[in-house]
Amino acid sequence: MAQARHLRTSIRFALPALLGLLAVHPTASAQAPRRGPNDPVDPPVPPSSAKVSSARHPLDPLDPAEIQRAVATVRKERRLPESVRFVSVTLNEPLKDVVLHPRSDGGCPREAFLILLDNATGRGFEAVVDLGRETVTRYDALPEGVQPPIMTDEFLECEEAARRSPAFRAALKKRGVEDVNLVMVDAWSAGHYGNEPPEDRGKRLSRALCWVRSEPNDNGYARPLEGIVAVVDLNRKEVLRIEDYGAVALPPQAGNWARSYIKEMRSDLKPLEVQQPEGTSFTIRGHDVQWQKWDLRVGFNPREGLVLYTVRYEGRPILYRASIAEMIVPYADPKESAYRKNAFDMGEYGVGMMANSLALGCDCLGTIRYFDGHLADSRGRPVTIKNAICLHEEDAGMLWKHTDWRTNQSEVRRARRLAVSMVATLGNYEYGYYWYFYQDGTIQMEVKLTGIMNTTGLKPGEAPRFGTEVAPQVNAPYHQHFFSARLDFAVDGETNTVHEVNTRSVPAGPDNPHGNAFFAESTPLRKESEAQRRTNPLSARFWRVVNPGRENVMGQPVAYRLCPGENVLPFAQPGAAVLQRAGFLTRNLWVTPYDRAERYPTGDYPNQNPGGDGLPRWTKADRPLEARDLVVWYTFGQTHIPRLEDWPVMPVSSVGFLLRPDGFFDRNPAMDLPPPSPRSSGL
Ligand code: NI
Repeated sequence: MAQARHLRTSIRFALPALLGLLAVHPTASAQAPRRGPNDPVDPPVPPSSAKVSSARHPLDPLDPAEIQRAVATVRKERRLPESVRFVSVTLNEPLKDVVLHPRSDGGCPREAFLILLDNATGRGFEAVVDLGRETVTRYDALPEGVQPPIMTDEFLECEEAARRSPAFRAALKKRGVEDVNLVMVDAWSAGHYGNEPPEDRGKRLSRALCWVRSEPNDNGYARPLEGIVAVVDLNRKEVLRIEDYGAVALPPQAGNWARSYIKEMRSDLKPLEVQQPEGTSFTIRGHDVQWQKWDLRVGFNPREGLVLYTVRYEGRPILYRASIAEMIVPYADPKESAYRKNAFDMGEYGVGMMANSLALGCDCLGTIRYFDGHLADSRGRPVTIKNAICLHEEDAGMLWKHTDWRTNQSEVRRARRLAVSMVATLGNYEYGYYWYFYQDGTIQMEVKLTGIMNTTGLKPGEAPRFGTEVAPQVNAPYHQHFFSARLDFAVDGETNTVHEVNTRSVPAGPDNPHGNAFFAESTPLRKESEAQRRTNPLSARFWRVVNPGRENVMGQPVAYRLCPGENVLPFAQPGAAVLQRAGFLTRNLWVTPYDRAERYPTGDYPNQNPGGDGLPRWTKADRPLEARDLVVWYTFGQTHIPRLEDWPVMPVSSVGFLLRPDGFFDRNPAMDLPPPSPRSSGL
C-alpha cells in the first residue's frame, strides 16, 4: 500500500490506505447538480472558445500547465476559501463531433472538469473551465448528501485522525499495541446500508479497517487488528467513534514479501532478454499510437486510469472509447465488522490516482515507451505519476500455421501484440489493466490481479466459514472482483446494432434424423430491456456488434464479436446493499444508446449513495438500440476463494474478454505477415 510519489513541487506525497481518488464526467445527469436558491448563478457561457491550442488533440489528457490553469481560474472567479479542496481535475472530454470532424486549423477548445469539496460545509461542487478563455463556464453545487469520492490525501488524514484518537489508542492497548505509528488505518468507504446511526447522517465517512506492522517495513496485512472499525468524519478529520467487536490476538507469524526478508533465492535462472535491435514497430506522436495497421489514442484520468480512444484498424473505426469504468469487490463475511466491505474502486476512490509509477519497476521486457499521468492533489497542485502507462510489443506465440503433409510445404507466422497497460495499487491489492492489440484484428482486455489479500484475524483454532486460513490465525475472506468495461463501439462507424448468438441443438426428428445437428441463432437486441444479458457457456453465447450499413465480401454486415472469458454473477442476495448500489452486477451485458452523460455504471457519485443510479436507472427508459450509436457495458468477474499459495503475495490471476473481428474483414487480415526469419524461429 503506502507507495511514494512525487509532486511537481517535489513535496513527497505518500499514498497510504486504500484506493485512490476520483474524478470526472462531463455533463449533467439525473444525479447532477440542481441549483439551489442560494447557489451562485453561472456567468453567461461564451459561444465557443476563441483561444485554442493547436498543439493538443481534443482527447489529450490535461497537462500540468492546464491543471494549474483550471485550478487558478476556479479559485480566482469563485474566490474559494481554504476549506475548498479539489477532488479531481481532468479533461472535460469534447463532443464526439469535435473529435470526429476536427476543425480545419487543427485547433480545439480545451476544457477542464473539476469536482470540488468544501470541508467546512460538506458540500460538493462541479465546475467546467474553458482553458482557452480562462473562464468558469459552469459551477454547480451537488445536491445535498451527494458525496464526492474519497481523495487520496484523505487516506493520510484518516490514518492521522485515528492515531490521534484516545478511543483508538485504548482499543489498540487492549490488543497489546503501544506504538501507534506502526498501525495502518485503511480508509474504507462507508457505503450505504440504511442502518446508519443518526449521528452518521449527512457526514462524509470512512469506516476504516486496521492492521499493525511489527516493524516499519514489514507486511502489516499479516497482522490484522481484528474487531476495530474506526468511523472517521473525513470533513472534520476526526474519529466519530471506535466500534470494537472484540479483540483477537495478533497472528504469530510474519508474512513478508520484500526482498530483504527472503533468505534464499533460487539460483538456476539464466538471462532471457528481448532485443529489438532496429527499435519498435510502433510510432508515437503525442498520445497517438500507430502500430502496423492499428492506430489509437491513449488517455488517462483520475477515475478510470487508462482510457483508449478512436481505435482503428487500417483506418476503419472499431471503438470510439474504451475503459474499465467501475470495479467492485464485494466480500462474503456477514459479521458486523466485515459485511460492509465492498469497495467501488473507480467510483468511490479512483484508479488513476492510485496508478503505479512504473519508474519504480515495470514487469515488461523489450523496448518500452511510457506515458506520464498528470493529476491534481486535493490542494489543486499538479501531481505527475512518472511512467503511469506502459506501451510495448510482445511476442504472442503462434498466429497461424499449416503444413501440407503431402507436399511438405509448411507456413507459420508468429503473433505479436501491442500491450498498453497500467497497474494500480488499491490498498492491499494490485490490479494490472492490459489492453492488447493483435495483428489479426483481435483486441484483448486482461485484468491481472495480484498483491496482498485483505485479511482478518482468527482466534487460535477458529475455522473460518467465509474465508481461508492462509497462515496461522490469518483469514483471507472469500470475495469477488467485478469489472465493468464501457465499450463505446463504432464498428465501421457509429451506426451499430448488437446481436446475441446462441448455439442450439436441433431436437431429434425429421430436421435432425441423426441427432448431430446444431446451429447458431442470432437475435438482435432491439431495445434496452432486451439487452440485459448474462453469459451462458453452455450455449456458447457471444455477442456481435454489427454495422447494418456496411457489408463484407459475402454481403453480410460487418461485425466485431464480444467473446466472454471466465465470468460469474454476484453471490450477494438481491436485496443486499451492494446490489442496490451496483445493480449492473446482476447482468454481464448491457447495451445503451450513446449518451455523453452516461459514463459510469453506478452513476456519477456512488460514494455513500443508497443506489439505484447508473445502468439500472437509465435503461428503465427502454430506449431503442437498433442502428444507432451504442455503448456496450460488459460486466466480468472472478470469485476468489483464497489458496495458501495466494499468501503472502498472490501470483497473478487473470480475467478479461476478447473482441474479435467477425466478418469485419473479408478473410484473415494477417495473411500478409512475412514468415519469421530462420534465426528467430530457431532454425
Ligand atoms: Ni481476490
